[in-house]
Amino acid sequence: MSEQTDRFILGIETSCDETAASIVKNGKEIVANVVASQIDSHKRFGGVVPEIASRHHVEQVTIVLEEVMTQAGMSFKDLDAIAVTEGPGLVGALLIGVNAAKALSFAHQIPLVGVHHIAGHIYANQLVDELQFPCLALVVSGGHTELVLMKEHGSFEVIGETLDDAAGEAYDKVARTMGLPYPGGPHIDRLAHEGEPTIKLPRAWLEEGSYHFSFSGLKSAVINTLHNASQKGETIAPENLAASFQESVIEVLVGKTLKAAEAYGVKQVVLAGGVAANKGLREALTSAFTKLQDVKVIIPPLSLCTDNAAMIAAAGTIAFEKGIRGDMAMNGQPGLPLVSYE
Ligand code: KG4
Ligand code: ZN
Repeated sequence: MSEQTDRFILGIETSCDETAASIVKNGKEIVANVVASQIDSHKRFGGVVPEIASRHHVEQVTIVLEEVMTQAGMSFKDLDAIAVTEGPGLVGALLIGVNAAKALSFAHQIPLVGVHHIAGHIYANQLVDELQFPCLALVVSGGHTELVLMKEHGSFEVIGETLDDAAGEAYDKVARTMGLPYPGGPHIDRLAHEGEPTIKLPRAWLEEGSYHFSFSGLKSAVINTLHNASQKGETIAPENLAASFQESVIEVLVGKTLKAAEAYGVKQVVLAGGVAANKGLREALTSAFTKLQDVKVIIPPLSLCTDNAAMIAAAGTIAFEKGIRGDMAMNGQPGLPLVSYE
């Protein structure tokens, strides 16, 4: 019997506003994890400014990489591969990570693996528990809202997606209208727990049986509610508006996930993306699935919900094992589609 050796993969993530590097053992165990957030630099603009993001990544990437190697107590020769977010994301931001990964791969002759950012978010769950198939991922981030069916490792079938705004985007836009700081998701989540859902807002179920989502109507309804109240000289308790908005988002997200889980007979449901940090969503998803005893729900800890490189290394390990390799022609791809590892 051949002896199984451990596999160490370095992950690099720079697709948006976090510069992150991590080393993961066998796709499951975090050896070292470093995240440099730029949120404070973007806050005063009310959103991520791409040029500022790129500049920060340039300044941070070498420091973050040195830090992760020190934390792990490893040298580059100990690595089996370097996995990097190839897309989607901001092109200028992606390029910094991709170029850092290419430089290290070339200099140290280490295989290079391109990773889709959403595959990364999904694989954050593999750092918590072993994925079991068929598995359904509810992906809710600043740029994506998707239900992804996985029949095996590295297989991704998008069965539903947003037709307009992503869930996180709706959170951030509603928060901005309410005068809350960027990113607004955590602020609405906190306020929602202080209020009651007293304001009637729409739920976008779309046509019968659809696993697609739509959040722009809800976002407009919140804006109209605020606008009408201010015209009448009335005030709306922000905590009640936050609670009502959050209830509408969560009811649809959880309702469709439950339906899809039943229809596809999945063994596991995993939550992924920045909005997975939402306390209300975490509670609602857990409680909805208590009635489906055979379906196991995994929800990553908060640090693995928002952007990080451990998730990229975890997804990269599967991609590496499936034979996916990048080369020196690799580029940042802002519109990269999520495709299965063949
Ligand atoms: O995955 P992520 O870090 O970046 C993208 O890949 O987009 O997600 C960021 C999004 C932001 O829209 C942020 O407002 C949202 O995740 N978010 C939350 C919470 N924490 C972060 N949304 C709702 N509730 C939260 N607690
Ligand atoms: Zn993300």
